[in-house]
Amino acid sequence: MIEPFFHNSPEDIHRVSALLHKGFVVALPTETVYGLAADASNAEAVRQIFEIKGRPLIDPLIVHIYKAEEAPTLVDVDALRSSWAAVPGAGSAIDILGKLARAFWPGPLTLVLPKLPTVSDLVTAGRPSVAIRVPAHPLMRAVLKETGLALAAPSANPFGYISPTTAEHVRESLGEKVPYILDGGPCERGLESTILDLTCPEEGPRLLREGPISREKIEQVLGRPVKCWTQSNCAQASKGELAPGSLHRHYSPSKPLYLYEKGELPGLRALPENAVRVYLRRSAAAAKSAKGGRTFWLTEDGSLDVAARSLFALLRRLDESPRIGEIHWELPPKEGIGSAIRDRLTRAAAN
Ligand code: TXA
Ligand code: MG
Repeated sequence: MIEPFFHNSPEDIHRVSALLHKGFVVALPTETVYGLAADASNAEAVRQIFEIKGRPLIDPLIVHIYKAEEAPTLVDVDALRSSWAAVPGAGSAIDILGKLARAFWPGPLTLVLPKLPTVSDLVTAGRPSVAIRVPAHPLMRAVLKETGLALAAPSANPFGYISPTTAEHVRESLGEKVPYILDGGPCERGLESTILDLTCPEEGPRLLREGPISREKIEQVLGRPVKCWTQSNCAQASKGELAPGSLHRHYSPSKPLYLYEKGELPGLRALPENAVRVYLRRSAAAAKSAKGGRTFWLTEDGSLDVAARSLFALLRRLDESPRIGEIHWELPPKEGIGSAIRDRLTRAAAN
């Protein structure tokens, strides 16, 4: 076993690449969250990912590739093209794919597409589709390039817990189980990728998980409406049939978490002694009561990008503090990435 810790030199990239070729599982940074990666074509290595995370085998993994041109090694492009062509008015799948790839890759968009039979059923949990993404983080890209592999990688957290946005988070929760953690610093986006499903031409593109790329942005690029099939508004999705990992309770701290719309956070006197409050932005009043160590804020100025970046780290920090018993959190507005932040908080707070 190699010491699990904070590596990021060119040497380390060679070492990680060699480990991946040998079938080891390693933790790697992406621009969204840290991932637990293995060679997607090596069933034994992929099995280890599920074991390390304690993840049920029914929950499929995202496969990361270096560039969009590699998609045809995983995706059944003929099936994709013909299934859309068979539905009047559905549009051209290849056209849609091209527009999305040009606009958002490398970046935090995952696409669900019909898979080739060569993609392991372990990776896709027996589904006929595969989820693929071209990540943007330079270290992840360096590893993808050097290995020439497609890498299956879920978020590098124990199943159901808060996703890691620093190498230290990975070490804290999975350290002794992972032989290597490549350290790329804090993740720039801080929330898992947006997932868009292109396997149902009758419905058009379906949003399965909200993320850094908002539905509005995708609609602008495609020039057509995109249906939201996330669990809050779709019965099939809430049963986990579409994206099995989108179970209601997820990203969860061990302490009770209560959510409030803007302006509705209770005063400290109305809360138990061991309760803390989290505002979206700093204000003079919040700063004053912060002196007691019971009031926090996610951002100085309310920037939703910054809020997304800091969300999981603050949630972890508060969850780990022994003096804190419950957390009261102000929700951001629904606009842009605010919608994805609300989704994560709502699921973190679910019972
Ligand atoms: O940003 C991200 O997407 C991060 C980084 C590491 O890339 N990965 C990530 O993976 O969040 P994970 O495993 O934590 O979440 C992947 C989600 C799960 O909800 C899973 O059910 C869904 O993607 N998924 C994977 N393959 C699918 C498929 N073929 N059809 C539908 N959903 C799929
Ligand atoms: Mg996850």
